[in-house]
Amino acid sequence: MSLDAAMTSEEILGWLLETDESSLATLWAAADRARQEHVGNAVHLRGLVEISSHCVRYCAYCGLRCGRPGPRYRMRDDEILATARLAAELGCGSVVLQAGEDPALTAERVAGFVRAIKDETGLAVTLSLGEQDERAWALWREAGADRYLLRFETSDRALYATIHPSRPDDAPVHRIEMLARLRALGYEVGSGVMVGVPGQTYATLAADVALFRELDLDMIGVGPYLAHPETPLGADPTRFVAADGEQVPEDAATALKVVALARLVCPEANIPATTALATIDRATGRELGLARGANVVMPNMTPLAYRALYEIYPGKENAHRAPRATMRGVLKRLAAIGRTPGTGPGGRLRGKARGPGSDTRTARRDARKESAR
Ligand code: 5AD
Ligand code: SF4
Repeated sequence: MSLDAAMTSEEILGWLLETDESSLATLWAAADRARQEHVGNAVHLRGLVEISSHCVRYCAYCGLRCGRPGPRYRMRDDEILATARLAAELGCGSVVLQAGEDPALTAERVAGFVRAIKDETGLAVTLSLGEQDERAWALWREAGADRYLLRFETSDRALYATIHPSRPDDAPVHRIEMLARLRALGYEVGSGVMVGVPGQTYATLAADVALFRELDLDMIGVGPYLAHPETPLGADPTRFVAADGEQVPEDAATALKVVALARLVCPEANIPATTALATIDRATGRELGLARGANVVMPNMTPLAYRALYEIYPGKENAHRAPRATMRGVLKRLAAIGRTPGTGPGGRLRGKARGPGSDTRTARRDARKESAR
């Protein structure tokens, strides 16, 4: 089986089904090599700020879904700005502002705090605010937002419609088309999937990975699906589950295969070792992600008072750790595996293949040039 960007969908599927440890060792090694060659040794730190836990959507898998009882919060603009400042102070090169689809996050309001963060901190700003309209996306881009994350979750349209229902008054949404619109507006574009969601087959997961390549994603976020008992899917896991032998398991091993394959099909992408991965395998999830293709970590900078209320799934890693302690922990773990924290915004560098012998200085200079443009 080949192990490069030209892999066929059948080969991708073959790797997803592979169980032999020594064969898998070649997958891990190839992904690590591609990571080293294309994005280097640096691990970019993106400060995650969960700015609102309100959401109008009814995703069957997500703890923030509309109507789930329990307290919610919205960060004020001054809190968002202060958190971004803290992220900068602690060494993050960018912030990721994430929320459910919250009507209180009006286009103008978001544009206001994006502009303030850009003016005051100079950090790269990534938004992860769900499905929005063109006007909002254009306004945010003008305000200085650099990147947008919108996971397509699964390329299986029927499964997507079941687990992520459209709003009653809305036509079905095509996230793939939305990603193209975001790209046209000049955003760096990120997407990804959950691994092991009930109803996801190996064949669709292979198609998802092939789609990462077709979309030429700048950022790819993948993590295991983690059941939330207070959601329809979590409460009744057999509901949509695919036939025996076809259903993708919700485990760290499979999520790591997807991380490795994502690196191989999109060698230049920024790929995080996600919180979901670190949650399902607390001891080694983060490290294994970084050893098998990932080059990004997203330390959670959300103020502690809100942290536990952003419960997409239960048991989130670092749910009770303040930003400073979270950052200390991340830096310690990076040092332990011989990886260096990235500097600068850490945007996608195109066509900058660098051999294992080169250091990160070239990447830094390129990043500075990019951000100055
Ligand atoms: N398990 C794992 N990931 C989840 N997400 C939402 N709910 C869950 C869950 N139960 C992911 C989705 C979403 C991202 C913000 O979090 O992929 O895009
Ligand atoms: Fe809302 Fe996003 Fe959760 Fe869906 S996945 S319920 S859109 S926060």
